Amino acid sequence: QTRTLYYYTNPEEARLLLRTRDRFSHKGTFGHALLLAGSYGKIGAALLASRACLRSGVGLLTVQTPRCGYDILQTNVPEAMCRPDQHEHVLTGMSDISGPDFSEYSAVGVGPGIGQSPETVSMLRGLLQSLRKPAVFDADALNILAKNRDLLGLLPERSILTPHPKEFERLTQRWENDYDKLEILQDFARRYDVVVVLKGAHTAIATPEGEVHFNSTGNPGLSTGGTGDVLTGVITALLAQGYDPVEASVLGVYSHGLAGDIAAANRGQIGLTATDVIEHLRWNM
Ligand code: APR
Ligand code: MG
Repeated sequence: QTRTLYYYTNPEEARLLLRTRDRFSHKGTFGHALLLAGSYGKIGAALLASRACLRSGVGLLTVQTPRCGYDILQTNVPEAMCRPDQHEHVLTGMSDISGPDFSEYSAVGVGPGIGQSPETVSMLRGLLQSLRKPAVFDADALNILAKNRDLLGLLPERSILTPHPKEFERLTQRWENDYDKLEILQDFARRYDVVVVLKGAHTAIATPEGEVHFNSTGNPGLSTGGTGDVLTGVITALLAQGYDPVEASVLGVYSHGLAGDIAAANRGQIGLTATDVIEHLRWNM
């Protein structure tokens, strides 16, 4: 018999989680993130996640995109290093610069815009076999997990999954009603020992211990393409900085929603884009 605890992330909770920077810190203090994102026609997803990651305090960022994304990334996100994939259009995980060695990164985020080509499915399998720490899984990485269910067992413990409701339904293969949804969410997080960020108007974050954190920020202006990719960048940055997976998820979701609220106050919900969310991220709350 386990007791379920429900939490609500209000401004006070978020402030308690946020760490201040030590005067003698340097970029090594804040981790080195790797984002695996993009495919032909969806390089924008890699740019959004990268910029959001850099605006969320990461020390160093490396991005692996298919070769067709290399010039775009280097031109538009000069702060990021790029590992061009050997493949022109999709991610295979292989790069001329270095092999698929993920041990040097303090956090890995995978999924935005990657598609589901067979090469990318193999890439994800290889990644899961070599990862030794929690990582962030989003978008097509989740769809690949849903279709190749043996991969679910390879997820590093306390990894973070960030599905929208449709992706969550594919992952769990269950969907009854909104009441059961919460229980299904908790079951899944416990069963696979992961943190599940179920996105929506009141994003619910389930921990492996069965707790649920409901978010208080965000608005319907966020219902626009690319805002999910931004969230992946934010959470990956926090994980790279050493926040534990639950803290990174709770604080990341809160800050992403807050940025959406500040952006909406500036230009209204209707005009909001994912780029506006990045530009309104603030960490002096
Ligand atoms: N209120 C508050 N927040 C909202 C609302 C709302 N009404 N609607 C959306 N959001 C937030 C969600 O909580 C989430 O953080 O916006 C973000 C949307 O994320 P995604 O659904 O992943 O959307 P998107 O970024 O467009 O994804 C891009 O990846 O996941 C795939 O199928 C998806 O093709 C799409 C692509
Ligand atoms: Mg998405």
